[in-house]
Amino acid sequence: MRKIVFNETEIQGACERIANELTKDLANDEKIPVFLGVMKGALNFFMDLTKRMEMPIYLDYIQISSYEGTKSTGNVKLLHDLRFDCEGRTVIIVEDIVDTGVSMNYLTKYIQEKYNPKRIIVVTLFDKINARTVPIKIDYSGKVLAQNDFLIGYGLDYKELHRNVPYVYIPDEDEYNELTDLANNS
Ligand code: IMP
Ligand code: MG
Repeated sequence: MRKIVFNETEIQGACERIANELTKDLANDEKIPVFLGVMKGALNFFMDLTKRMEMPIYLDYIQISSYEGTKSTGNVKLLHDLRFDCEGRTVIIVEDIVDTGVSMNYLTKYIQEKYNPKRIIVVTLFDKINARTVPIKIDYSGKVLAQNDFLIGYGLDYKELHRNVPYVYIPDEDEYNELTDLANNS
């Protein structure tokens, strides 16, 4: 049985709330802010959040990878860099989940040093607060999680599968085995 952690209504409610807060937060920016989706995990959240922003914004994406299966490898690879000139602009990093904090720590440092933005705002759908090995300041989060369960759905994958499921859940042992088989054999 799947244990649902965040259903479609809850996800949309979180997007609405965060978009409203960000709209106020960004109201006085002189330059158009850049929303930066962290691919592929933030794909769905990025679109649902940004389509609620009722102001001019730019969209770009960056792709990194640090996870293999259900474990963070601890080293981050940059797979696709952003293209936008972010100098002097607010950059809003949109992530699916902050777990150990290693990826977000890498991203904020990388963007700060390479692009010299006006400021960086960190937004994540999920914050696994008890999993941190590196401290991270999160500005907006959809849901704080006290438990360190591995989640699937709405962008979050297991072996690249089930990013397209419209809600977020914890799979049971049988589903892990099925997905492992599927990923290995299809
Ligand atoms: P961190 O570097 O340990 O904070 O991990 C961040 C990245 O690992 C996230 O952007 C996700 O892509 C992935 N990740 C962390 N926890 C989960 C999970 O529960 N399910 C799927 N992916 C996860
Ligand atoms: Mg991610």
